[in-house]
Amino acid sequence: MIVYLNGEFLPLEEARVPVLDRGFIFGDGVYEVIPVYNGLIFKLAEHLQRLENSLSGIKLANPFTTEEWTGILNSVITRNDGGDRSIYLQVTRGIAKRDHQFPQVVNPTVLVMSNPLNRVAVPAPITAITCEDTRWKRCDIKSIALLPNILLRQAAVEAGANEAILIRDGFVTEGAASNVFIVENGVVITPPKSNFILPGITRDIVLEIMPSAKEQNISEAQLRSADEIWVTSSTREILPVISLDNQPVGTGEVGAVWSQVLELYKQL
Ligand SMILES: Cc1ncc(COP(=O)(O)O)c(C=O)c1O
Repeated sequence: MIVYLNGEFLPLEEARVPVLDRGFIFGDGVYEVIPVYNGLIFKLAEHLQRLENSLSGIKLANPFTTEEWTGILNSVITRNDGGDRSIYLQVTRGIAKRDHQFPQVVNPTVLVMSNPLNRVAVPAPITAITCEDTRWKRCDIKSIALLPNILLRQAAVEAGANEAILIRDGFVTEGAASNVFIVENGVVITPPKSNFILPGITRDIVLEIMPSAKEQNISEAQLRSADEIWVTSSTREILPVISLDNQPVGTGEVGAVWSQVLELYKQL
């Protein structure tokens, strides 16, 4: 795998970051994950806009213009033979003596890497558990500091499930690494954008291809009685959740509305 690190393209094994990088010391950085289909970046403008928002959320200047980002990302794709893949990019506040306050001179560290996406025609359904949303109040920033998300996902795995669906004050926020949708009496619902969720690009796409879908708060009770639950993310697209806390979701089978939305997504 060829990666981009601070102006150079090099094999992953040779990519090195000094231990004083604030990403390593503090988790002081932001990231994006962008899908690539057939060598073409999907929804690049939307991902770069969210990156801009995350950078401004942590008061770090964007190191590149849109044209520069596009050039770097396409180089990484070509050097790794295109195809279906995901791009991971991260920007940290660079190297400085360990001190919480921002350094006076900032040279951000920029890493771009890429992994193959193993896509299947019909993705397998998943299972989920509910967990209290223990995260901070700026979940709209795509921060590399993911310890809460990691602990929540691990709790799901240890319970034999694939994803944790998070509840804050009685309402659904999102998954440990996904947004959440439910279907209730035929109506598709997802929580509105706020500082408590990441504004997922896949979430926006679902709202675009299902214009009747609603952005409304979802109570824990609504989640538990939903006919369908889906989770969305750039790498896993739209996945049906067929069991929640060991109870069947709806009929316990993949739902009809999910099959529809998956078809519409594939057409895009
Ligand atoms: C916490 C969280 N919410 C939502 C998402 C989905 O966002 P996107 O559809 O842009 O990948 C992710 C993606 O990994 C995530 O980590």
